[in-house]
Amino acid sequence: MNIEDIIYEQKGSLYLDGKNLPGLAKKYGTPIIVYSKRKIQENVGKLRKAFSGGRTSIHFSIKSNYNPFILRMLQGMNVGVDAATPNEVALALKVGFPAEKIIATPNNMSREDLLSITRQGVVLNFDDISQMKLLGDDLPEVVSFRINPGIGRGQFKGIKTGGRGSKFGIPPEVAVKAYRMAKRKGVKRFGIHMMTGSNVLDPSFFDRSSYLFFRIADRIARENGIEFEFLDIGGGFGVPYNIEDKELDVDEVGHYILRNFSKFSSKGQFRDSQLILEPGRFIIANAGVLLASVTGIKRYDNVLVGMDVSMNTLIRIPLYGAVHPVFVANRTSDSRKVSVNLVGQVCENTDILFRSISLPRLEVGDTIAILNCGAYVTSMSSNYNLLARPMEIMIDGSKERVIRRRETVEDILQSFENV
Ligand SMILES: Cc1ncc(COP(=O)(O)O)c(C=O)c1O
Repeated sequence: MNIEDIIYEQKGSLYLDGKNLPGLAKKYGTPIIVYSKRKIQENVGKLRKAFSGGRTSIHFSIKSNYNPFILRMLQGMNVGVDAATPNEVALALKVGFPAEKIIATPNNMSREDLLSITRQGVVLNFDDISQMKLLGDDLPEVVSFRINPGIGRGQFKGIKTGGRGSKFGIPPEVAVKAYRMAKRKGVKRFGIHMMTGSNVLDPSFFDRSSYLFFRIADRIARENGIEFEFLDIGGGFGVPYNIEDKELDVDEVGHYILRNFSKFSSKGQFRDSQLILEPGRFIIANAGVLLASVTGIKRYDNVLVGMDVSMNTLIRIPLYGAVHPVFVANRTSDSRKVSVNLVGQVCENTDILFRSISLPRLEVGDTIAILNCGAYVTSMSSNYNLLARPMEIMIDGSKERVIRRRETVEDILQSFENV
């Protein structure tokens, strides 16, 4: 990965966009996530360039990060939204996205949940025929299904969402029937969706999965005599988390997907269809650096360095076995390294977050910088042990702005009675 694209070193400290990271940790306290607007813009720009030859629309997957300030920023970059729940739809509408810039792909919703989405004019990808049936005669104007094309890929088993064993979508044969049913019910406008897994760093997988998807869509369209207004290929564009991993070549990914798209367009299909992408991680993961402070050190048979970031924030680590690049932000000139374990404050032994990593010798008060914490960190965090989730700030040129203040215990307890 290209660390220097994110942070750089100067006089013994780490910097992000001209801001001294240990200085920010001291000024605001920790845990804190520092985001770079520059990096978000750059990531959106890379995707735009890679898909510039087609009728492509980018919908940010807000499950990866739903900070309203970030959503407004992305709206200003003319990016739409991919939402997974009625509440995510409600947030997108609240921050000002028009309904036509939102696409929802919910799972196992009730009739009321589904109606709360469709009645706002938001297009929905049904996960199954049974979900469509829940709506009876209240079908939306546009009907779309999530297809399981039979293959999937994800960095971890838990984030592989296509192929055998996946809980998502419907097989192609069933999809043919599903669209036939919708057509019989009088539906005239259609879309189609897939999402086969997250954090994929191999461009050839996108070649294979998109070809399969377009071929399935082509078959469904021909057998039912329908046209698709949009083909939504989901997200999944990966970001390296291991320092030795290569960045995903999104230009190559764009080339494969657009080439496969045009193969079918040249046969007469999808001529007026829009191609939708739903990236989450690619846009926001490497734009966020999580800062922690060292709070205690136990040197017995191994070294346990305690910090104020725990598994309630980095649940990705115990959940998937995820890794993140870690640096000591105030000791970049220390060349002597020792092997340490970084542990958090939660009362679980799964809260050993980084095992046997090589870092400069640490002291209480040092600042730890954990990279790639923009995606699936705050959005997946909890208040386990009544710990506060991280504060968040955005660096925009020379300005820094608090975009989520530090949670208090009153914030955490506010929905309870009799506190
Ligand atoms: C339907 C859907 N779209 C988009 C995404 C975003 O994936 P990523 O963050 O890997 O781009 C997900 C993530 O699981 C998803 O389930």
